[in-house]
Amino acid sequence: MEATPLLTPYKMGEFNVAHRVVLAPATRYRSYRNQLKQEATRNNSGVLSCEGMDATPLLTPYKMGEFNLAHRVVLAPVTRCRSYGNLAQPHNTLYYAQRAAPGVLLIAEASAVSETAKAYPHVPGLWSQEQVEAWKPVVDAVHAKGALFFCQIWHTGSSSPTEFGAPPKLEREEIPQMVNDFRVAARNAIKAGFDGVEIHAANGFLVNQFWWFLGDKDDDDTAEKSKPVQRDQLMKNGASDSGSLEILCRFATDVVAAVVDEVGVDHVGVRLSPFAEYVDGSDVDPEAHALHLIHFMDKLGVLYCHVVEPRMCADGEDGKLAIPHRLLPFRKAFRGTFIVNGGYDRDEGDKVVSEGYADLVSYGRLFLANPDLPERFRRNAGLNKYDRSTFYTSDPVVGYTDYPFLEHEIGVAN
Ligand SMILES: Cc1cc2nc3c(=O)[nH]c(=O)nc-3n(C[C@H](O)[C@H](O)[C@H](O)COP(=O)(O)O)c2cc1C
Repeated sequence: MEATPLLTPYKMGEFNVAHRVVLAPATRYRSYRNQLKQEATRNNSGVLSCEGMDATPLLTPYKMGEFNLAHRVVLAPVTRCRSYGNLAQPHNTLYYAQRAAPGVLLIAEASAVSETAKAYPHVPGLWSQEQVEAWKPVVDAVHAKGALFFCQIWHTGSSSPTEFGAPPKLEREEIPQMVNDFRVAARNAIKAGFDGVEIHAANGFLVNQFWWFLGDKDDDDTAEKSKPVQRDQLMKNGASDSGSLEILCRFATDVVAAVVDEVGVDHVGVRLSPFAEYVDGSDVDPEAHALHLIHFMDKLGVLYCHVVEPRMCADGEDGKLAIPHRLLPFRKAFRGTFIVNGGYDRDEGDKVVSEGYADLVSYGRLFLANPDLPERFRRNAGLNKYDRSTFYTSDPVVGYTDYPFLEHEIGVAN
């Protein structure tokens, strides 16, 4: 009988291969259900156990680096403007402790990295020892309830609501200082007891602005630096080649590298919103810039990548303009934990975890208004409605710590 060509021997360099059938590298992107099936098969010597397969995928445990999470529901960073004098307050402790529970990951609202970084009133800071001390009781209260606590660090850059004053203009010489501010803020976050930090490279704030603005050309002046990059400028400057991509993303990569160097790669996440659009500009090549940064993060081994869905950027609301799975190329490019955010509810969160599109799902407005959100998801209970008018007000209670818990509601109903 003639040999099947596929099954004939082959010499590849110094290696003698018995036949031509090769195991392709398995992609790590596989569906949650397949994962469960494979594990069930392995554990039970071929007997497929369906135990766990009926569990809501969103509510199954997950290991993120050294951190054991009880489920996939994460508190997204939400600025609440209630840290008077840029210092965390006792009511901040209550707010975060209300949302803490064993194994839940909470990401604290954006904390300013320097005096010039705070374009909003009453946001917490992380540039002074006094601010570190103010954060400590908040972190302790969250840890006492068994939760994990990361702190988002930001610089608002030129994105500043006009009522809070003109945004600072950045001079080239200030850039190393800005990078160092992120490093120091990260160090301070760890000193305050946080488990890690999330670099805010999203929503048009400073780190994000650096790939909208050309800031590293020898011939540019301050006026030019403050203008968004137009597509023709990018073409003229050859920004589509990798060298220019490096220049455009340089500030972001410098910040990530400095923070990783300071607190260790296992304690750093990065937040991106590649498709964000703002009055003063939007990213002309969101995929390229985000992918460049994500590849950089992946090489370093950054703990997690947290990405805002384009639908949030398209209409800023519970939009229906979503293109499903638009973040998939980013998910595939990143081997660490991938967190998605923006307009998710229980069912959609469940779906994306089940499909392997995301490891974790973060909730902003729903978690803000439902301190026991994971428990409500577990019971498939109703949700409190968020009150938009109190999102950024400064009252220590109203619209902040006064959203009812499920028990309370049931108690009232009974
Ligand atoms: C009141 C409020 C404050 C926010 N503050 C921040 C912030 O500090 N940092 C950040 O990255 N995103 C911030 N966001 C965006 C949220 O993290 C999240 O991306 C957005 O609410 C969409 O998610 P959701 O549909 O789950 O609410 C804020 C959103 C709201 C409503």
